[in-house]
Amino acid sequence: MPWASETGEILLGVIGSPIAHSKSPQMHTAGLKALGIKGAYVPLHVHPGSLGETISSIRTLGFRGINVTLPHKVAVIPYLDAVDRSAEAIGAVNTIVNNGGVLTGYNTDGIGYVRSLKSEAASDLAGRRIMVIGAGGAARGILDALLLERPASVIIANRSREKAAELAESWSGRGDLKGIGLGEIEEYVQGMDIVINTTSVGMHPNVDQMPIDPDILPEGIVVSDLIYNPLHTRFLLESERRKGCVIHSGVGMFLYQGAYALEYWTGRPAPIKEMRQALLESLG
Ligand code: ATR
Repeated sequence: MPWASETGEILLGVIGSPIAHSKSPQMHTAGLKALGIKGAYVPLHVHPGSLGETISSIRTLGFRGINVTLPHKVAVIPYLDAVDRSAEAIGAVNTIVNNGGVLTGYNTDGIGYVRSLKSEAASDLAGRRIMVIGAGGAARGILDALLLERPASVIIANRSREKAAELAESWSGRGDLKGIGLGEIEEYVQGMDIVINTTSVGMHPNVDQMPIDPDILPEGIVVSDLIYNPLHTRFLLESERRKGCVIHSGVGMFLYQGAYALEYWTGRPAPIKEMRQALLESLG
């Protein structure tokens, strides 16, 4: 048991601020139970000023793994011993693995998103034309993994066109990318196979808002939203209702980013069914 602490149990947790509403503890506790692994996954409220001390404590206390959430995903990097290729490319870490005091940072958000999208909505992304709405941290988090799937093209559409163009430019060596403004979406969207909302537009409590008008979408394409509260945004529901789109909720990204983390920590395949059930129960 490479992961076991002195007590033979696995110690896991999530650091963030705020942290009380995180659904990770319920999801991972169910995962550990299903795997028959003794241990604990605890929420840890960490202020930005205590981040360095907290990371040292991970080594001291023998935590095997830590999830990292807002606002620490970028700031944590200098405190780690190494970061993997995708975390480096994205510039953010959401999972830390402690191997005998050596801390390595990973980013499972993007690969978790793609695993979820492929298993639930679009089995093959190769050759697909993808539109990503938004150009912030969330968009950056999924772009690396999307580009590994070799889509035909990725158009990044953002309120600030400049930010979309910058993001497209910074990944230009990785594929056919283009940045546009929200006003140009109608011109490009007809050629798309998959449209993904990465903005917070439509998130609780602003559940009536939509990032774009679903009427401009082509019939029957895949529409995905990173938001999971509500489980299905108005954008998804209206895209399905008005255009017969195949819809994909952000809850799958959350599930699979956690599944990858648990697999990194334990070396065992994650019990997806049990983790999904616990997650859905905790979301109410
Ligand atoms: P995150 O990490 O969630 O991506 P972020 O880095 O602050 O957060 O980025 C937020 C993204 O949502 C940006 O692309 C932002 O557009 P701008 O770059 O133009 O600010 C987009 N966004 C947020 N609120 C929006 C709104 N009301 N309408 C359109 N886009 C919005």
